[in-house]
Amino acid sequence: MVNKTDFTRKTILTMLRNSSEPLSGEKISGKIGISRVAVWKQIQTLIGLGYEISSSSAGYSLKESGDHLYSWEFDREKPNYEAFRELDSTMRKARELALKGCPDFTTIVAEKQSNGRGRGSKSWDSSEGGLYFTWIIRPDLPLAFHYIYTIGATAVLSRTIADLYGVETSSKWPNDLVSPAGKVAGILTEMECSGEKINWLSLGIGINVNNRQTEIDRTSLRDMLGSRIDRKSLLTRFEQDFRKTLRHEAPQSIRSMWESHSSTIGSSVRLHSEREGLLQGIAMGITSSGALRLKNGSREQTALFGDIYTKKQENTQ
Ligand code: BTN
Repeated sequence: MVNKTDFTRKTILTMLRNSSEPLSGEKISGKIGISRVAVWKQIQTLIGLGYEISSSSAGYSLKESGDHLYSWEFDREKPNYEAFRELDSTMRKARELALKGCPDFTTIVAEKQSNGRGRGSKSWDSSEGGLYFTWIIRPDLPLAFHYIYTIGATAVLSRTIADLYGVETSSKWPNDLVSPAGKVAGILTEMECSGEKINWLSLGIGINVNNRQTEIDRTSLRDMLGSRIDRKSLLTRFEQDFRKTLRHEAPQSIRSMWESHSSTIGSSVRLHSEREGLLQGIAMGITSSGALRLKNGSREQTALFGDIYTKKQENTQ
């Protein structure tokens, strides 16, 4: 059952979108069965949420086609879904909700973030037009397998993008999605555990969709395709694909999926890690605990964290 407020907002927006002329408050109130004051209040809320609605003596007009991610914009109801015009970070909000006991697979979305967080101490550029969200998951997996969510999300996102738009991206260890023109998406994971049990895990995903890129090593789907992307379809399809994969595939198969989508595997890699220092070698795969396996001559090393620099090599050792 769609909630009443969502239904009211969806109906107002549909009426405005389908009308070539301004619509009076009276007409809208007659159609929905609420007072004109209630219509006015909803219009003010929609304006506050970023919709460009003007009003004149003739009525209300919507000045944009609207690429918003609020729950009422989707064709189907979205349970456990909260969208904000702006947040400091969806990770901060996710943590707050997780600690309050929110349900498994709650989604927090922000149109923009004032303090988007990347891995390490990096920030994540979160200007309007990108897709910034966090899934709060209460996994039924031991702590040792937490990385399956991160690599699973990266591999699935690459496949979803290929299916929807016909463009290739690849996963770069540990949790980036890249194209030859630069980084398209990044994933940040946070969690809370009790012993070996994961209480909650939040998977923060930033995808450069229609947002303008300012850094040279970044690109967006819009730049890759030459046209704007509908973020709702991308989010909907990605979530479906991700949930299906996590439900049906074993960790080993998710690791193989990540490896087959990866530009890291088979490349000559230099890795700076706070824990392991400087490592170098050919990336061979990932271990059952999510570490990257590097081979340098006859020596094999593994790295759990770090930033890698790659140089593709034809002949792996
Ligand atoms: C990285 O590549 O460094 C990870 C970037 C993760 C960015 C996303 S955007 C949504 C969520 N909220 C944040 O503050 N960060 C993650």
